[in-house]
Amino acid sequence: MKNASEKLKNCYESVAGKITVTPGIGIVLGSGLGGYADRMDVRTEIRYEDIEGFPVSTVKGHNGRYLFGTLNGREVVMMQGRVHYYEGYEMSDVVLPVRLMGMMGVKAVVLTNAAGGMNPAHHPGILMMITDHIASFVPSPLRGPNIDELGLRFPDMSHVYDPALQEKIRQAAKDLDLHLYEGVYLQHPGPNFETPAEIRAYRSLGADAVGMSTACEAVALNHMGVKVCGISCITNLCAGMNKKPLTHEEVQETADLVAESFQGLLTKLVSVI
Ligand code: HPA
Repeated sequence: MKNASEKLKNCYESVAGKITVTPGIGIVLGSGLGGYADRMDVRTEIRYEDIEGFPVSTVKGHNGRYLFGTLNGREVVMMQGRVHYYEGYEMSDVVLPVRLMGMMGVKAVVLTNAAGGMNPAHHPGILMMITDHIASFVPSPLRGPNIDELGLRFPDMSHVYDPALQEKIRQAAKDLDLHLYEGVYLQHPGPNFETPAEIRAYRSLGADAVGMSTACEAVALNHMGVKVCGISCITNLCAGMNKKPLTHEEVQETADLVAESFQGLLTKLVSVI
């Protein structure tokens, strides 16, 4: 079995020849945002399943491909579909796709996701800029031998979500007259949603929203010196805050409803990053 470093090198070798222009910005599309790829002028598409050794997503509705091209005049690479820890992968495999974007040369990555809101001010359909995260309930993607070519053994995590990028997101939302919430994202392992007791515990730890992705990717990108920002679409109130049970369908339905304003914010953001 190959270690994380060898896997990454192999995957990079398999995509490098197909990339004709170095992308400056990476965007990871979360639930409901898959259609955003239509707004992009696509030059090249690389399907995950065509990359040897690449962890292929099993989630319904996650297409699984990199798209290269221009968006609002900028060279971008989009990840349409991501890999989740709950699918059974090692954390180093979960972050392989974003690490690969770093190796492709991107300077900044916009991470997006669907999340449950536990802040009493939240309601389904709002957008929350991630200011910080709690990743203590999932293994670190940096566990195991350090990949010295990428970064330090003990990287600082004081500013995982780049303060300058956060300011740009605030400004972009203001320009669009969009009310943007801000808060701390907590990564829950999944695939089960949380219990009400877990939500109470997470809230008391300082979390505002919970989801099953993103924080691990942000850690891996910080490790390799790529700037990160993150935006959550709050698709539902968390367990215990509502009478009806949570479903994946509810998450997708709300994400679809918000897609338009989410896409508007991303498009504005891309032009100023
Ligand atoms: N919990 C975890 N992940 C989620 C949720 C939630 O309530 N909503 C969307 N993704």
